[in-house]
Amino acid sequence: MSKVSKPKREGKLLENIDDDVMLINKLKQEVVKKSDTKIETEEFPDGEETANDDCTDKDDWKKDSGFYDGIDPKAFRQYELACDRVKDFYEEQHTKQTVAYNIQARINFKTRVRAKMTIWEGLEKLNKLLDESDPDTELSQIDHALQTAEAIRRDGKPRWFQLVGLIHDLGKLLYFFDSKGQWDVVGDTFPVGCKYSAKIIFPGSFQKNPDLKNPLYNTKYGIYQKHCGLDKVMLSWGHDEYMYHIAKLNSTLPQEALAMIRYHSFYPWHQEGAYTYLMDEHDKMMLEAVRAFNKYDLYSKIDENYNVDDLKKYYLELIDEYFPEKVIDF
Ligand SMILES: [Fe+2]
Ligand SMILES: [Fe+2]
Repeated sequence: MSKVSKPKREGKLLENIDDDVMLINKLKQEVVKKSDTKIETEEFPDGEETANDDCTDKDDWKKDSGFYDGIDPKAFRQYELACDRVKDFYEEQHTKQTVAYNIQARINFKTRVRAKMTIWEGLEKLNKLLDESDPDTELSQIDHALQTAEAIRRDGKPRWFQLVGLIHDLGKLLYFFDSKGQWDVVGDTFPVGCKYSAKIIFPGSFQKNPDLKNPLYNTKYGIYQKHCGLDKVMLSWGHDEYMYHIAKLNSTLPQEALAMIRYHSFYPWHQEGAYTYLMDEHDKMMLEAVRAFNKYDLYSKIDENYNVDDLKKYYLELIDEYFPEKVIDF
């Protein structure tokens, strides 16, 4: 492949679009009050709901403290402005996230090592890269990682769940490694290789994606089969999928944790109830896990800021507990 010189990456650009994307996802849930409604399951064989009613000690990650109940949606007035910026972003993403691109991205991932470092060094690197172009940023990546993790810890969730909070966005390092832009790092994700759901944000913006006209890819199931399981479905490439593979290859995190990392931006699925016809039985539990994680990701940004030095020891030990090798391949 020809070597293309890449423009200098400005962390600010990625952060701004990511903040806008998150704002919209947050407001959609707040205003439409969807976060506690049940997911449509009519296309799932037994129509079971993913209810939070069977809490056992083993399942204590499911319990909801109610901490974020009653958040005032009026606090998020920038919604319309964000919508315009996000629209342009999704126009590009929905045009360029093709099956061909996604296969190539996975080949690229598997055939090279981008960096060797510890998880904590990765967090510091991400923090530095995203912040150096924007010294006035309100919230750094480490702040978001610690706020998410601390909110999960405050609610008495298991240690692996806390670690997910800490590392779930670490895949944004991709932006400084081998991404082609912002569109293959952040934003909501969706399956490629089958019909785009109308529940994807800005569903009209796939018009220029060549896969839309490809008869192999534009049917309901496309290259997949009914209830094949999301594990067999190729989700648009970005920080979620990248970090999932890093965590799967290098950690002993349980499957719920891996699903939280992998699907946390798959809003059409975990909030809108799309693509249930591709789910298998296993995915039902994973959906519950991803939804349990989502509110911490969205709402912990309003929490206090933590002092990194105060928490570093705790999280270094937590990382060591689940990542047997200190230095890992990114
Ligand atoms: Fe994320
Ligand atoms: Fe996040």
